[in-house]
Amino acid sequence: MAHLRWWQRAIFYQIYPRSFADGNGDGIGDFAGMIAKLDYLQSLGVDALWLSPHFPSPNADLGYDVADYTGVAPEYGTLDDFKRFLDGAHARGMRVVLDLVLNHTSDQHPWFIESRRSRDNPKRDWYIWRDPAPDGGPPNNWNSVFGGSAWEFDPTTGQYYYHFFLKQQPDLNWRNPQVKAAMWQAVRFWLDMGVDGFRLDAIGTLFEDPAYPNHTARLSQIEMLRAWRENRPPEEQQALMAELMVMFRYQFGRPEVHTVMKELRALVDTYPGDRVLIGEDDDPAYYGNGDDELHLVFNFPLMRTNRLTPAWVRANQADRLSKLPPGAWPCNTLGNHDSTRLWSAFGDGQHDASIARVNAALLLTLPGTPVLYYGEEIGMTDLLLERFDQLRDNQAINLYHLALSDGLSPETAMGMAARMTRDRCRTPMQWANAPNAGFSPPGVQTWLPVNSNYAHGVNVADQTNDPRSLLNFYRRLIHLRKRTPALLSGGYMPVNEDAETYLAFLRRDPGADRACLVVLNMSAEPQVAGLALPWPTAHCLFSSHEREGQTVSLAALALAPFEVFIGQVGGGPAVS
Ligand code: GLC
Repeated sequence: MAHLRWWQRAIFYQIYPRSFADGNGDGIGDFAGMIAKLDYLQSLGVDALWLSPHFPSPNADLGYDVADYTGVAPEYGTLDDFKRFLDGAHARGMRVVLDLVLNHTSDQHPWFIESRRSRDNPKRDWYIWRDPAPDGGPPNNWNSVFGGSAWEFDPTTGQYYYHFFLKQQPDLNWRNPQVKAAMWQAVRFWLDMGVDGFRLDAIGTLFEDPAYPNHTARLSQIEMLRAWRENRPPEEQQALMAELMVMFRYQFGRPEVHTVMKELRALVDTYPGDRVLIGEDDDPAYYGNGDDELHLVFNFPLMRTNRLTPAWVRANQADRLSKLPPGAWPCNTLGNHDSTRLWSAFGDGQHDASIARVNAALLLTLPGTPVLYYGEEIGMTDLLLERFDQLRDNQAINLYHLALSDGLSPETAMGMAARMTRDRCRTPMQWANAPNAGFSPPGVQTWLPVNSNYAHGVNVADQTNDPRSLLNFYRRLIHLRKRTPALLSGGYMPVNEDAETYLAFLRRDPGADRACLVVLNMSAEPQVAGLALPWPTAHCLFSSHEREGQTVSLAALALAPFEVFIGQVGGGPAVS
């Protein structure tokens, strides 16, 4: 196990700074708040914290529209506050990974303010400017992934600029070496300060097809917007994804991205301390040859369903692991700031609490680095917003307006927006059964509403004191993973691949005489798993049903509904 690198052993935890902890009582999370929660994060057992953007931003896309790559948003604190956070994390043995938004800046970034000034401005070519089509309209039919055309007309200079995301997020021109040089300066700024790496935002979209051909997709804008954000049954979801791929085929996934990733990797590798790069994309090609592009690339296909069934997970693992280049290390997640929350995404409406536990066990036992999303560990759920004025996510606001202009009623439009808005998963962290869930002081209006289920046990304080809570379930799983070599580095071997109701797999280091056996009953009925393995029994290391320490027979392993069973098979101690 000694050969593993820190980011291979680590459990990552994503913090959405706006929503984690409000230290100054203005209803918005900040560094003072995050610093105060470092002990909590340490006690949870996570090893690395990924912060969604903390840079100055007009917040059209809540930080993903960066106006200064080397600053700290005033609402989050100062650079000194950031340093205190970084030092505090390091002192507790946790690493810090920042969000690096390469594809675009804010339209308020000084680079873009310059660029739009005149056609001969030295920064003109830092962004993508094109002449109107002969009829005066946009240069082609490309869409913004956030709704509407991907082109915005700028009357000052009579040209359109390109934006894959919001019109307040103009795309940088990565074919211009000056852009790269400026961005690498920002990268060095943070690496010099001691940050441990970057999560790379939207890397797939850095380049566009230079011929700018029209696409031929048939999805309406409303269908397109919903397709990104709503979890559906697998076949429906796959068909929609395929149509999305047609719609955006000329706007992402260009081979030129690999050159940039290689360059960034080379830069990062000049720093000591094994800094890490994590790609927000699912294409395993971003691992490069396994050692020359990104260290980790998210296995997003795992979460593109409304139900994690044994067959779904097996197919995902078989596909994913076969596609990784030699030496590449997987990376799994079941939720982030863009998606429906784990609890809400995969539940059946009846057994959500049990399903959330099974899925937590899945995430923390699959091969590869797990990335948790804040609040997942206490079972935070999506919040369904009721009113238009509560929406903060401009993608959902665009959907609402599109729906109205399509003739839908305000109620129907709001219902659609509430189901797909990313606000649903970004509500304030629930710390206690107290006003504002302990996120902000009483009486303060928080930037998004607090989910009222904090009063019903969905909060850190109550769950800390309850040995049977989801929080303590996560803690136990995290500690098990960290002290069980086979769960960290063992290969993945599915067992009983025909089983429809339970998922069973082994994690085993090559040549090891023992292995870790994971059996997850993903059904609401008791099951008996007949596991024909070279070992007759397993020693239970972890159980959702208090079986730790028992030796069980594998010929007929009885499983309670939604039981999680993790055991050691073979000789010698599994736990170091
Ligand atoms: C990524 C981020 C998302 C953001 C987008 C544009 O997908 O995860 O939140 O809106 O990039 O930066």
